Amino acid sequence: MDQQNNMITILLSYRCKNTDNMPNLSINFAGIKSPNPFWLASAPPTNSGYQVMKAFDAGWGGAVWKTLGVPIINTSSRYGSINYRNTRMAGFNNIELITDRPLEDNLKEIEEVKKYFPNHAVIASLMVERKEEWHQIIKDVENAGADGIELNFGCPHGMCERGMGSAVGQEPSVLKTIVEWVMEVAQIPVITKLTPNISHIVDPGLAAVQGGSDAISLINTIKSIVGIDLDTYAPYPIVDGKGTNGGYCGPAVKPIALEMVKELTKHPDIKDTPISGIGGIETWRDAVEFILLGAGSVQVCTAVMHYGFGIIREMQSGLEQFMIEKGYETINDFKGKALPNVTEWKHLNLKHKVIAAINEDKCVGCDLCYIACDDGAHQAIRLPEENGNRIPEIIEENCVGCNLCSLVCPVEDCITMVQKDDGSQSITWDERAKANTIPTTFNDDLAGGKHHFVPTVEDALKWRKS
Ligand SMILES: Cc1cc2nc3c(=O)[nH]c(=O)nc-3n(C[C@H](O)[C@H](O)[C@H](O)COP(=O)(O)O)c2cc1C
Ligand code: SF4
Ligand code: SF4
Repeated sequence: MDQQNNMITILLSYRCKNTDNMPNLSINFAGIKSPNPFWLASAPPTNSGYQVMKAFDAGWGGAVWKTLGVPIINTSSRYGSINYRNTRMAGFNNIELITDRPLEDNLKEIEEVKKYFPNHAVIASLMVERKEEWHQIIKDVENAGADGIELNFGCPHGMCERGMGSAVGQEPSVLKTIVEWVMEVAQIPVITKLTPNISHIVDPGLAAVQGGSDAISLINTIKSIVGIDLDTYAPYPIVDGKGTNGGYCGPAVKPIALEMVKELTKHPDIKDTPISGIGGIETWRDAVEFILLGAGSVQVCTAVMHYGFGIIREMQSGLEQFMIEKGYETINDFKGKALPNVTEWKHLNLKHKVIAAINEDKCVGCDLCYIACDDGAHQAIRLPEENGNRIPEIIEENCVGCNLCSLVCPVEDCITMVQKDDGSQSITWDERAKANTIPTTFNDDLAGGKHHFVPTVEDALKWRKS
């Protein structure tokens, strides 16, 4: 019995110790508190109190309610997607507008959700037109108990034709004016959600900060046509034989979103404003990447529309595991940690040299690397000459270290990039420009022209002879 009690004590103490050591995922984002950084983005998954409650119960820390605003009528159908090879919805597209549910129903449900989940973040996304409408709807959502407001200046279809959504996000001065209207009355934190449909994201970002916004979120969807029906010649999604541009999102847009987040978190006049990262987030890794680039919370739409609220379990446990492994106790401990490594091209070390190496034990002899390098890169891979051996060979002196072969190789870690310089030397374009030594001919030692092997033009036709 004593032995059994000892065992229970050990197990309990291990459990307590373990709990004590668990990282703290909670965040305070511009004054909005949330048990974890994972929020649902304003979209169909936050259409109703039923869905938001279900999501919170599953583990989501916050929800940005489906945008409330002026009355609208939606079309049927309204979604399209890019199904890339075996992956469905690698990119997702919609022509849906803001909520089509009555404002009073939404307000009542926001109030109910806050009663059940007082410690979760409920943010009301808003889109109206005139100053008085902004003032009224802000009062309404504050009375309903929302923890924050998100201004939807991003919708790139339908609403922009009525002068709202991305029509505002694309005009920094208009955006600033509306943020100022909002800040005149808002008692709760305000997040300005930006459209990516602009050439320089810093412009609306700065306008939001200058207007007094407490925080920024991005990205909303990217203006897009996902395809054309080859029988009816109408763009998807088709509405009675016609279509229009939609908003693109899902895994395909993550690189664009990461880049835009970085543009803001690195900007001296924006970097102190909390940023909520959105766009293509599906796993804990995606979320960590946004946080490493300085995001303080992340928002998810397409992944939940695809797989449901349950994906939060893996996102949460993956994030916890990452933090334990790296020794981080809070989200702030690693927020922005990648930023010092994101620089401009002109600051990259031109003396750094990698080349491809093939792991013969892993190679399955598919020739994909050879084809890619010969046709699409630098003719630095040779096929084996002896019969029976299917393992290609890297021609080291021709390899420029572009990575292409390692990206096309279907076997994980079969082609790796191996460093060839000893790390002792560094020169950047910027340093050369300052030293007045940028190349003036194509014969510079470091330029491709001098050392870059190129086969003769006749070599292109040599297969004909054989
Ligand atoms: C069907 C659909 C409806 C959306 N509706 C809204 C909306 O009402 N308000 C808003 O701010 N963003 C809306 N969005 C954009 C998302 O909130 C989010 O910014 C975008 O989808 C990128 O995130 P994701 O790649 O995780 O989907 C919508 C997106 C989709 C797919
Ligand atoms: S890294 Fe580029 S140049 Fe080198 S072998 Fe691979 S594809 Fe060819
Ligand atoms: S792509 Fe990879 S597996 Fe295929 S031949 Fe090249 S190294 Fe081998």
